[in-house]
Amino acid sequence: MIVARKSIDKVASKPKVDPRNKLNNLTGAEWQFSTKTVINKIYPSNMQHKLRSQHGGQKPPQLCADIIKTFTKEGQIVLDPLMGVGGTLLGAALCGRKGVGIELNAQWVDIYKEVCRLENLECFTTLIGNANDHLKSFEPNSIDFIFTDVPYWIMDKVTKTRSAAAQRESRLSKFNDAELQTKEEWLAEMKEIFTNAYPALKEKGYMAVFIGDMYRGQEYHLLSGELAKTISEIDGFLLKSDIIWHDDSKMLHIYGYPFAYIPSVIHQHILIFRKERRK
Ligand SMILES: C[S@@+](CC[C@H](N)C(=O)[O-])C[C@H]1O[C@@H](n2cnc3c(N)ncnc32)[C@H](O)[C@@H]1O
Repeated sequence: MIVARKSIDKVASKPKVDPRNKLNNLTGAEWQFSTKTVINKIYPSNMQHKLRSQHGGQKPPQLCADIIKTFTKEGQIVLDPLMGVGGTLLGAALCGRKGVGIELNAQWVDIYKEVCRLENLECFTTLIGNANDHLKSFEPNSIDFIFTDVPYWIMDKVTKTRSAAAQRESRLSKFNDAELQTKEEWLAEMKEIFTNAYPALKEKGYMAVFIGDMYRGQEYHLLSGELAKTISEIDGFLLKSDIIWHDDSKMLHIYGYPFAYIPSVIHQHILIFRKERRK
């Protein structure tokens, strides 16, 4: 009997969250796991994946929930200023956080709302239009965590030489209606968005940004590094980590065979920044 009582007590005494933990609701063991810089967990293609994949840049909501749980407490507010079909907002709903999203294209917001309805998940406030316009009207320090996924830099010198029809068919160009853009213009556009997002984030709050590297024009572009540098140039954003997500859904192609090595990029970066006081 005594043994049985002991084992009941063991089950009942779930590890507690340290009362000094102001960042999240994780126990020590969970916290330790969340600091890993490589994510190789497989996320299922669920939550109306077919509907969401019309976008082409959608992220797994469960992956987003895992990241959100590291940087927020239950009930806190997550902002995605480039929300697409809402991977971040769906992730926030899955783990009991609140969300707000901004998206240029209304069609992606409609899909997000439909997914919420079909999955019976809380549907958060969405603002349609340019993030640069909406962000200026956010209350300063009102957001606990910014979690977003930048539109790709789609037009390098090589793609500029492709026909207009080929560019229109590009899978990436579907979720970014941008005009022809150099990498420098793309980086400048991203800098403007994150500069405008800065005031809304609370002091010492974190920001996570998905970014994939690219092989284009016979060259590997370390876009993650370039974007990390660009955002770090904004006074007050300090780079804290670079998490590599192994994207298991990416198909392998025999690029280059049998003449040259061309990488199959099956990982993405999640850059982590913290809002520090401005110099
Ligand atoms: C990489 S996608 C985000 C995908 C998202 N993580 C998801 O799970 O669906 C980036 C989104 O940003 C939007 N976007 C690009 N520039 C924008 C801007 N200036 N303001 C608001 N949205 C913008 C694009 O339309 C695109 O849907």
